[in-house]
Amino acid sequence: MINKAIAKQLKRPTGFLGKILSKFLKRMNSEIYVQVIKDVNAQDGDRIFEIGYGHGSGILQLVKIADCVVEGIDFSEVMYKDAVKLNQKYIDKGMVSLAFGEFLDYEMKSSYFDKVFCVNVIYFWDDLQVPFLRIKESLNENGTFFIYMDSLEDIKNSRFTNDEMFNLYDIDFVLKSLEDVGFQSSYYNYGRGHIIMAIRT
Ligand SMILES: C[S@@+](CC[C@H](N)C(=O)[O-])C[C@H]1O[C@@H](n2cnc3c(N)ncnc32)[C@H](O)[C@@H]1O
Repeated sequence: MINKAIAKQLKRPTGFLGKILSKFLKRMNSEIYVQVIKDVNAQDGDRIFEIGYGHGSGILQLVKIADCVVEGIDFSEVMYKDAVKLNQKYIDKGMVSLAFGEFLDYEMKSSYFDKVFCVNVIYFWDDLQVPFLRIKESLNENGTFFIYMDSLEDIKNSRFTNDEMFNLYDIDFVLKSLEDVGFQSSYYNYGRGHIIMAIRT
């Protein structure tokens, strides 16, 4: 019962429990974010988009590194508020723009972004083709999509993630789904999972 409630919160944090989870995720995933942000390698002038930004600490790291513009979307009101608070200075400067809503319904700008990334989000998509295609179309030619995902083994072994809320994707399936929509991808193992780099060809 409690495991199910936590799995639900991981998908979309809400209320008091969501506020606690936001702080927990920020701490727990900080090393993953450092690594993903290193790979994203923000440059001056880059346009970057994060799906499921959560607490917003990845976005903050990016705008501290480079004179770039970062947009993002998350459908948890708790996370949206936390991320706005954390990034307020850069929102005011016009460098960060945060949307609150469902990514699958969001109108992404076409052929616009240099980099799109997401951390611990793809398990919640019941189908990968539709979101991957939308992401591909939002990228410039040679733009890159970065994904961090926990390994299938890790998902199955954790009592919070071994739940129907999480789609059981393994790395090969994700790579194949990226290839099917026209990405050229590579990956390496990191921590409990994988970091994928998929280039729009
Ligand atoms: C497990 S949390 C990960 C948060 C953060 N990326 C991290 O790794 O610490 C998943 C986040 O993605 C958001 N999310 C999941 N599916 C989404 C969707 N379809 N549209 C928008 N946000 C989504 C949730 O609200 C939540 O903030």
